[in-house]
Amino acid sequence: MKAFLVSEVEGVLSCGVDEVEPTPKDPTDILVQVDYSGVNFKDALVATPRSRVRRLAHIVGGVDAAGVIVVSSDPALPVGARVAVHGGDMGVGRDGGFAQFVYTTAQLVSHLAPALSTRDAMIIGTAGFTAMESVLALEAHGLDHEGEVLVTGATGGVGSLAVALLAAKGYRPVASTGSSDEAAWLQGLGATRIIARDEISDRPDRVLGSERWSGAIDCIGGDTLHQILRSLRYGGAVAASGLIAGTDLTTTIYPFITRAVSLLGVDSVEATSATRARVWAALAEVAPSVDFDSLVDRVVTLEELPEALESIRNGETRGRILVNPTPG
Ligand SMILES: NC(=O)c1ccc[n+]([C@@H]2O[C@H](COP(=O)([O-])OP(=O)(O)OC[C@H]3O[C@@H](n4cnc5c(N)ncnc54)[C@H](OP(=O)(O)O)[C@@H]3O)[C@@H](O)[C@H]2O)c1
Repeated sequence: MKAFLVSEVEGVLSCGVDEVEPTPKDPTDILVQVDYSGVNFKDALVATPRSRVRRLAHIVGGVDAAGVIVVSSDPALPVGARVAVHGGDMGVGRDGGFAQFVYTTAQLVSHLAPALSTRDAMIIGTAGFTAMESVLALEAHGLDHEGEVLVTGATGGVGSLAVALLAAKGYRPVASTGSSDEAAWLQGLGATRIIARDEISDRPDRVLGSERWSGAIDCIGGDTLHQILRSLRYGGAVAASGLIAGTDLTTTIYPFITRAVSLLGVDSVEATSATRARVWAALAEVAPSVDFDSLVDRVVTLEELPEALESIRNGETRGRILVNPTPG
């Protein structure tokens, strides 16, 4: 089969398409024929010299895939089932979805409801799954429909899906972006207001900012997350999933002890089977209200992946880049 291989020998990285034999790690592994994959920020980290994310010197990249099961001994995941596969060590510690076929463990496989095509599933991908996990975490915390919900990194994968999903569920997403030329596109996704990245900071001379957001979905981290915490309304929460602006969080205790705000951690990688089923069911439920095609930046072949990975590394994408391993 054709696959996009990332190899590092003595600190020299090479990435490109090659012929690879799909190989199970375990006899119970399930083989999926890949219709689509999607490009995530993590894929760019894997295809980086001396990557801290990649755990193998030679690996087929791709933390996401959707397609049809072609080999399985698991009655719950029969041959012919349409599925999404993501997370765990996929594309990081075992061969991933930038290929025509991928072997995976049952725990990483989710059935797709009829409302979702395999293409829709990869427009969603890990980014959209994380966005919906974030929405569900805010709802479990008691998010109301009255106030505004801030979304950071709004033109990126997690951010754009978060805007679209919140709007589809009747919330009022405010998109924070460094890409002001994409304001019309963000409004088309359902953002009720667009603000610049630096507008997240409010009353910097005070310990706390104004009470602005009922909730927030943040994939940026660093000082952005600190600014959000100090501007949540009383009892509000932020669902935090990313580290685009850094891994350190310096903040104060005041938002927690004077406004009873909450910081909710979101992880998609180690999500349990029950969580995966719950999140994909929630995605299928809102699917009729989401224009998935408007979230596609472009569709690339395996050969075009180096350029796509560079775009996402530089924060130049708008929505999701899809990968079609078998075009035509
Ligand atoms: N916890 C999990 O399970 C999980 C799952 C998926 C992703 N993530 C993490 O979430 C983050 C976002 O992933 P993604 O796939 O959405 O990435 P992405 O598609 O590259 O989007 C990131 C967005 O962040 C904004 N941005 C870029 N550089 C920035 C900077 N220096 N300061 C502030 N904003 C900046 C840009 O949006 P604007 O131009 O619109 O501002 C960019 O489009 C990553 O850290 C990723 O590792 C975590």
